[in-house]
Amino acid sequence: MQILVIGSGGREHALAWKSAQDESVTNVFVAPGNAGTALEPKVTNLSLDTNNFIKVENFCKEKHVELVIIGPEQPLVDGMSDYLQSKGINTFGPSQAAAQLEGSKTFSKDFFIKYGIPTAAYASFNDYDSSKNYLDTIEYPTVVKADGLAAGKGVIICADKDEALAALDSIFKDQAFGEAGNRVVIEEFLEGEEASFIAVVSKDKIVPLATSQDHKAVGEGDTGLNTGGMGAYSPAPIVDEHIHQKIIDQVMKPTMAGLISEGSPYLGFLYAGLMIKNGELKVLEFNCRFGDPETQPILLRLKSSLVDLCLAAINDELDSYQINWTEQHSCGVVIASEGYPENYATNKEVCST
Ligand code: AMP
Ligand code: GLY
Repeated sequence: MQILVIGSGGREHALAWKSAQDESVTNVFVAPGNAGTALEPKVTNLSLDTNNFIKVENFCKEKHVELVIIGPEQPLVDGMSDYLQSKGINTFGPSQAAAQLEGSKTFSKDFFIKYGIPTAAYASFNDYDSSKNYLDTIEYPTVVKADGLAAGKGVIICADKDEALAALDSIFKDQAFGEAGNRVVIEEFLEGEEASFIAVVSKDKIVPLATSQDHKAVGEGDTGLNTGGMGAYSPAPIVDEHIHQKIIDQVMKPTMAGLISEGSPYLGFLYAGLMIKNGELKVLEFNCRFGDPETQPILLRLKSSLVDLCLAAINDELDSYQINWTEQHSCGVVIASEGYPENYATNKEVCST
């Protein structure tokens, strides 16, 4: 079997590494892949313009690719999954409509309220003046978020009104996040401990993956600017059996049902970022994909076949899927270029010694 993984991060390295372990898999193509995937047995990096869905389709047909796994959010929000599925190619990843859960914070917050999913109080604004006026009416700290995709960096925690004003200036006036900042969400600041809950979802069926906790702040001891994630471990002890059940009942089930009633049933990895305090939880965000760096420690613990899991979801057979995990714990640490997440050099050599 030939497989295609879309993406270039550590997450895609883990997805390709795990997929390549199946005996039935002869080759895993990764477009574009990275220096790590280039070293994996049975894995081939591919130079393919993944923004051009016709080229991806042609490649899949030519190579008889039997499963496409889409790693990052951008191609999902751009509709790659819809396109490939419409061409009869087995594709694991949500539709463009369902990916709005990540693609627009206003969409997801409105969705949470509509379907009774616990979340922080918020307001959404399309312009600078009304968002600025709103700052006089709220308590601090507060959280200012660019509405659209900003590679995990569009969230600014503001200790006081001056910081919130500076955040609005950078988003609306300096366009720090480009079009992603054409709209902002201003949200109640939540205290507690964060956990990532990631599941494989197909319509109303769910297979929860092992729990994990990501650490987003750039500095030692969770200090400094937020990043896409500096490291993660699995399992996350904060998600005990009680919390696990609450997440399923209060977050995942209403989300799956809500998407079905909106006409956009979900297929793919569904990731809820949660804040947990005193046994209660609130959703910070949804991602329509596997987490990076959570994928790395989670897949290290997965004993079952990732390929079979994705195909079971695509074929609506999750009900009978039995997933197995090792009891061992795992951890992944991100090595970033100096200056990350602000200005930093890329294409530096990573040394293993
Ligand atoms: P998001 O992309 O919305 O998950 O935000 C990225 C990170 O910002 C989260 O993982 C939290 O660390 C932090 N964050 C987001 N929203 C809030 C909030 N309402 N209260 C406190 N921290 C938040
Ligand atoms: N680790 C956070 C994310 O993947 O969004």
